[in-house]
Amino acid sequence: NDEQFKNVISHAKEYGFVFQSSEIYDGLSAVYDYGQLGAELKNNIKTYWWKAMVQMHENIVGIDSAIFMHPKVWKASGHVDGFNDPMIDNKDSKKRYRADQLLEDKIARYEKDGKTEKAAKLQADMDAALTAEDLPRLKVLIEEHEIACPVSGTKNWTDVRQFNLMFSTQFGAMAEGSDEVYLRPETAQGIFVNFLNVQKSGRMKIPFGIAQIGKAFRNEVIARQFIMRMREFEQMEMQFFVRPGEDKKWFAYWKEARLKWHQALGTAPEKYRFHDHVKLAHYANAATDIEFEFPFGFKEVEGIHSRTDFDLTQHQEYSGKKMQYFDNDLNEEGKPYGNYVPYVIETSIGLDRMFLLTMINAFEEEDLSTPEKQDSRTLLRLHPALAPIKVAIFPLTKKDGLPEKAREIMDHLKFDFNCVYEEKDAIGKRYRRMDAIGTPFCVTVDHQTLEDNTVTIRHRDTMEQQRIEIKELHTIIEGKVSW
Ligand code: GAP
Repeated sequence: NDEQFKNVISHAKEYGFVFQSSEIYDGLSAVYDYGQLGAELKNNIKTYWWKAMVQMHENIVGIDSAIFMHPKVWKASGHVDGFNDPMIDNKDSKKRYRADQLLEDKIARYEKDGKTEKAAKLQADMDAALTAEDLPRLKVLIEEHEIACPVSGTKNWTDVRQFNLMFSTQFGAMAEGSDEVYLRPETAQGIFVNFLNVQKSGRMKIPFGIAQIGKAFRNEVIARQFIMRMREFEQMEMQFFVRPGEDKKWFAYWKEARLKWHQALGTAPEKYRFHDHVKLAHYANAATDIEFEFPFGFKEVEGIHSRTDFDLTQHQEYSGKKMQYFDNDLNEEGKPYGNYVPYVIETSIGLDRMFLLTMINAFEEEDLSTPEKQDSRTLLRLHPALAPIKVAIFPLTKKDGLPEKAREIMDHLKFDFNCVYEEKDAIGKRYRRMDAIGTPFCVTVDHQTLEDNTVTIRHRDTMEQQRIEIKELHTIIEGKVSW
């Protein structure tokens, strides 16, 4: 599994999906750049989400709020005081760790060794300590379970301390007298502060949702596993505003709806599971993660949170502006529901994690050996709608007017589909290169094309080739790559 994960990472680099940021300067830890194919794949994931959430729901609209926000936003949201990780340092290696992560690793170890009772006990003890924010107790657990530093191997630990995860910078041209602002650690707050702007200008009626895709920043101390945990990343979030008392119902609705969104991509159902939270964030009355089985275990890709009226109430208090909605629908007693601060169900998915999931799930080294010959190919079995390139167009040779004919076909298709043209190398090699980047179709133009306007179309997954008329191409491709 480790091997497979390493292969995906090097494949992502080799073919222009993901690069380390500032690589020529040896990189910047936990920051990554998306290359020419990565940018396309990422855009296609965004489109899939936006269409499913905004276009398909009459009562959900999308916004694009700024990364910088008034500093009071983060006071109100609880992030200034509460968005911390409990950290512990090893005195010998001088390495810093998340205390809960060290304990989680130990729990996983116990489970692996069949010590399930011990694992369950430690899990319960850790949850209790985290809920109570009892930092000394976390240290005691680390000592009791004899957890050693993975680098120095010693158990010489400092006390556990809280570290805030928000990045800050100076606002304004002069450092002097200017205010400190934060880079947003979640996109959600841009939605909350615009709740009434959108509701009024869009004449939205509860229940309704506001969606957005955008960058978020967290000074993660443990940054690892490639694009799983980054310091600069992207979120796709939706806040769904509901009547108080209807939050549980909508929480259940969004839980199922979001899992369906994942599974509609054709991923094996057993690769997904829910993980209900025991320890709830400061704003939630229920929360679950959608987890995917990565090569390094089941890990969160998306969170669904019932955030109550926490955020809107807090903003009402800190801003002094009413955050209420007037509901003139009639309740069971025949009276209008009247004024209230809505409750919120949030769906929050990490775009980069979804990208990683997609790459891992699509990556395959397929054995094509026959008794006569050893052979294999590397391919990305991406859903055609997600594939960065939809069609590759190949003239069989570089002469006899085949390139011109191929270009003509491409000029027609490129209005609707991302195409590439390639005339170098043997045709088999060109096919393999397209397999490696997940291109669902390759179209080959040969001498017969000049006579009867037919081409061969090759299907990535089956490698099957069909002879079809040029005028059929558009419909065949569209049938597979559109949502
Ligand atoms: N607004 C709620 C919120 O931000 P979260 O569980 O902290 O909730 C939501 O984050 C999602 O964002 C996660 O499920 C994960 O996919 C993604 N995410 C969070 N931190 C991340 C990081 N450091 N790098 C990449 N993705 C991250």
